[in-house]
Order: sequence, then C-alpha cells, then structure tokens
Amino acid sequence: MKIELRNYCKTIRSAEVLRNVTCTFESGVCYGLYGVNGSGKTMLMRAVAGLIRPTSGEILTDGRPGSALGRVGLLLENPSFLDSMTGLENLLLLAKIQNKVGEKEVREAISLLGLDPDDKRKYRKYSLGMKQRLGIAAAVMEDPPVVLLDEPFNALDRAGATTVEALIRSLKERQKLILLACHERGVLDELSDELFLVENGKVTLYDAKRKE
Ligand SMILES: Nc1ncnc2c1ncn2[C@@H]1O[C@H](COP(=O)(O)OP(=O)(O)O)[C@@H](O)[C@H]1O
Ligand SMILES: [Mg+2]
Repeated sequence: MKIELRNYCKTIRSAEVLRNVTCTFESGVCYGLYGVNGSGKTMLMRAVAGLIRPTSGEILTDGRPGSALGRVGLLLENPSFLDSMTGLENLLLLAKIQNKVGEKEVREAISLLGLDPDDKRKYRKYSLGMKQRLGIAAAVMEDPPVVLLDEPFNALDRAGATTVEALIRSLKERQKLILLACHERGVLDELSDELFLVENGKVTLYDAKRKE
C-alpha cells in the first residue's frame, strides 16, 4: 500500500499548519516524525488518516485520489473513551462501527497491551498509562494495514514502552505502513526506517538512519 501527499497544504483560520508537504509512505516501513510541540506532527497524522482535507494539494492512496480512512488504525495524542464503560466495553463498541472483528480479537488486543480484558474498572478509573495502552489496543485491534501512532510512549512505564516497541517491530514484520510521532530522537532512531523532521508545518526527510 502506498500513501502519497502532494503539495499538501492545510490552513486553519489564518494558520498554515501544513505547508506544501510532499512525501510518500509505503507498507513495511516505519516512518518516524520528529518535531517539537506544535510543529505539525498530529496534523500530519490527521491528514494521512483522512480526518482533515487539504486546503490545496492532494492525498493519493495506491495512486488514486483520496485517503485510506477505514483502513487506518490510529492513536491520536490523547485517546478518549467513554468514562462509564470498561476498557473491553469501549473497544467492543468501537469494533461495531466497522464490524471487522469480534470479541476474540478485541480481547487479544487488550491483552497484547498488557491490560486485563476482564478488568471491571470503568475507564474513568484508569491511570494515564492504562488509557494510553487502551488507545493503542484500539488502534491495532482490527489489524489495519496502516497504523498511525501519535506519541504512543506518553505516560507509559518501562514495561509499557517495551511492549509497544515490540508491537511496532511486529507490525513492521507484518508489512504494515507505520507512522510514529515522537518528540524524542532516541526512540525514533531505534524504531524508524526513515525519519522526517516536522518543523513549523513543513516536513523534510532526514538522512535515512543518519546517526551521529
Ligand atoms: N484545531 C486547530 N485549529 C487551529 N490550529 C490548530 C488546531 N490544532 C492544532 N493547531 C495548530 O497547528 C499546529 C500544529 O499542531 P500539532 O499538529 O498538534 O503539533 P504537534 O503534534 O507537532 O505538537 C500548531 O501551531 C497548533 O497550534
Ligand atoms: Mg501532537
């Protein structure tokens, strides 16, 4: 699968949040997005997911105009779920939207992220790290070909970070197209095959695996 942005610009009110972005993302590759807060990483994820439309320019999926929405699993910075439901209930509700997977897969995703699918606590009682894990479980439970992880290591403890690193490696082995946004270079260098620098709405390719 191939997702291309061509001269993609997005202006919200008078702010240019994506400036003439041209880049290509392909299956089997993990792309790191590196940039300070407010540089446009989340906005780029939204663009790739098809959650926003370009002010000018275009997005192509496998050569055809349009986004891959529906084939994208995503964690956007702060996952939000329904407070009065358990983790399992929340993900089952989400799974019903597309009806691609059933309870078995949802439970597996929750366990994979180190949570207990039978945990009776409501989402409102979850710690930040547990919320983050649930958000990542939601992103991967349908085994989508495109996985967008926006700051997935936020609030995770050491064990959680190790789990998510292993998950990203396994997604790559299974030929997923992965975008990983992070404000720390170390993690990105470790996990990404190609690194993009996001600066003030501009996206530029860093030397592949340049390590100095
Ligand atoms: N809903 C919005 N309306 C207007 N501007 C926004 C909105 N969301 C984000 N922005 C602006 O877009 C820019 C990029 O934000 P964002 O993509 O969230 O940055 P990052 O994820 O790299 O921290 C910032 O200047 C931010 O203020
Ligand atoms: Mg962000």
